[in-house]
Amino acid sequence: MKRIIIDCDPGIDDTLALIYLAAAHHEGAIELEAVTTTAGNVGAQQCAVNAAWVLSECGLRTIPLAAGMPGPLEVELTTTPETHGDTGLGYVSAPARHVETDWDALWCDAIDRGTDDLHLIVTGPMTNLAAFRRLHPRHFTQLKHITVMGGAVDYPGNTTETAEWNFWVDPHAAREVLAHAPTPVTLCSLGVTETMVLDPEALARVVDTLGPAPIARSLSEILRFYFEFHDDEGLGYLAQVHDLLTVQVALGTTLFDAQPHALDVHAVTGELRGTSFVAGGKTNARVVSRADTGAAHAEFLRACGVHAKFFGGSGELDAARHARAED
Ligand code: BDR
Ligand code: CA
Repeated sequence: MKRIIIDCDPGIDDTLALIYLAAAHHEGAIELEAVTTTAGNVGAQQCAVNAAWVLSECGLRTIPLAAGMPGPLEVELTTTPETHGDTGLGYVSAPARHVETDWDALWCDAIDRGTDDLHLIVTGPMTNLAAFRRLHPRHFTQLKHITVMGGAVDYPGNTTETAEWNFWVDPHAAREVLAHAPTPVTLCSLGVTETMVLDPEALARVVDTLGPAPIARSLSEILRFYFEFHDDEGLGYLAQVHDLLTVQVALGTTLFDAQPHALDVHAVTGELRGTSFVAGGKTNARVVSRADTGAAHAEFLRACGVHAKFFGGSGELDAARHARAED
């Protein structure tokens, strides 16, 4: 069974990623070992408050959780309230709570328990991963499975003309991790993650299938903000849910193609900040070029049924009803 650490910045699509991982944990498909947060969409502390609330709404109050580094390695932290809302959860606010900050100890403990089955997923800037290399170089080199959402490889950026948000927020971290990756990073970059789109009809199916799961009560208000943001950007009333696809790629629950590349990142503050590019040298990334997003949506709906059953509902029936409605 895969053991998972997710380092995330919830964040609306990160929230969907957490919901998916929580379902996989409930059904015994993975062991969710730790959730840590990186500063990005909002600050790392706020991300941790959000992640703790999402997990508790998914019936997982006891997963080890900690806030990571307060900001990027070398540049000031920029957050994006216009994309994810002031709280990071759209129109929803998680209750304030204390969060631990011993994120690197959680990572070391997990690595000490073995790395053949340990998968690290990063759905925010790579600040923590780069800092981890500096703090714990021996542990860093033991990581065997790393999947990251980030970058725009031969593809337009979503933050500048050429840069993707996660790489743009901490370009030095992205560059450092790729330069020293102990194993090629599975990279879900914009070229593939932008194909994973949730629209209001799909969200209605998700909420209905979640049934009595507490997170179902808030999901529409969380996503409404993201729909409006994408609409304002001229993309339509829908949402690109990058991080949800990324965790499915990491778990191998959706089919995908990936190509080996030697990648580098412009770690500068000017126009090219955070831009990823193909460089010469050793393969350091497997860039995901295509994923079966239809299957990914169906798999997410199935996972929502797992939550419904966990909370005493009939997730399978609700999912089946929607499948019939679509016929
Ligand atoms: C990435 O940026 C963030 O806003 C999202 O959560 C996702 O991880 C997409 O560029
Ligand atoms: Ca994210």
